[in-house]
Amino acid sequence: MNHARISGTGGYLPEQVLTNAELEQRIETTAEWIVERTGVEERHIAAPWETTCDLAERAARRALEAADLDPRRIDLIVLGTTTPDHVFPSVATQLQHRLGCYGGPAFDVQAVCTGFVYAMDIANRFIRTGAARRALVVGADTFTRIINWQDRGTCILFGDGAGAVVLEAADEPGIIDSQLHADGRYKELLWVPAGVSGGYDQTRQNAAFVEMRGSEVFKVAVTTLKEIAEQILAANHMTIADVDWLIPHQANRRILAATAKRLGLPEERVVDCVRLHGNTSAASVPLALDVAVRDGRIQRGDTLLLEGFGGGFTWGAVLLNY
Ligand code: COA
Repeated sequence: MNHARISGTGGYLPEQVLTNAELEQRIETTAEWIVERTGVEERHIAAPWETTCDLAERAARRALEAADLDPRRIDLIVLGTTTPDHVFPSVATQLQHRLGCYGGPAFDVQAVCTGFVYAMDIANRFIRTGAARRALVVGADTFTRIINWQDRGTCILFGDGAGAVVLEAADEPGIIDSQLHADGRYKELLWVPAGVSGGYDQTRQNAAFVEMRGSEVFKVAVTTLKEIAEQILAANHMTIADVDWLIPHQANRRILAATAKRLGLPEERVVDCVRLHGNTSAASVPLALDVAVRDGRIQRGDTLLLEGFGGGFTWGAVLLNY
């Protein structure tokens, strides 16, 4: 059977930066409070004319360049997003059109902040079975479009961005293992209580915004991120000492620190982009991966553990040799 190996990574953050000082002007908060409780100092915001597909295309082209691969050779696109340009068609099909790699399957995955980890698991399975050989796996979100900028409990956390990897068939792993989970009982801790079929009232402009019970989400996230790391490592007869880099969903600096501590992992081995990115939802893991690859921290041969956690709840992990 084939294995799937990352041959290139890419990321893109929109130009506009929103600082905590600017948020101080909009809501009742302080820059110190935001940094102390979340670790976020600034986040990027898509320009009004920029869509999720625009962000995804930039990240995808950078990943393809890093992989030295002609975009037309991609035979599968799996894209995690919660904020598609349109109800349909999917962002993945529009990205396929922009890249000119027609014919193979292209589809979006909705697992909120776990979207990229879900997409990696799916693409890996396509490659393992021989159904695809060169996949583009993307996490892209313009999450700030569904943020209520009057809600100080959520607007401080999120930003926009996209990250991508090219996965190619290889003789050796590559992806060692991946595990996905979901538990729909947690819906109302983190959700947008409106939708196409769920009572979205077009006349109520505030109907489609994120609502979150922050401290409850925090507790579940910390427990879950520890447990999935231990589960996937145990299943592969490995320990945390075998992991060179942990790349968790970039939700909150305190969540990352607590996860590292509970796993007994030095914080220096956790890739942390929270300060400059905020939580970019499905983009957070591939963006952090790309940052650490490009700044030279992650080297070929390193063992990486990617972890996602998001609304639903959904969660999952990917263990791989880079
Ligand atoms: N500025 C100042 N005060 C704020 C504030 C802000 N931006 N946001 C909330 N507060 C206030 C609250 O109103 C509350 O005040 P009260 O005690 O008078 O009611 C107080 O701070 C404490 O609120 P709490 O929600 O308990 O704070 P917290 O320490 O849990 O931090 C979050 C809030 C949102 C930063 C934190 O819960 C968090 O990050 N949770 C995880 C969220 C997440 O990662 N979601 C995505 C997962 S994919």
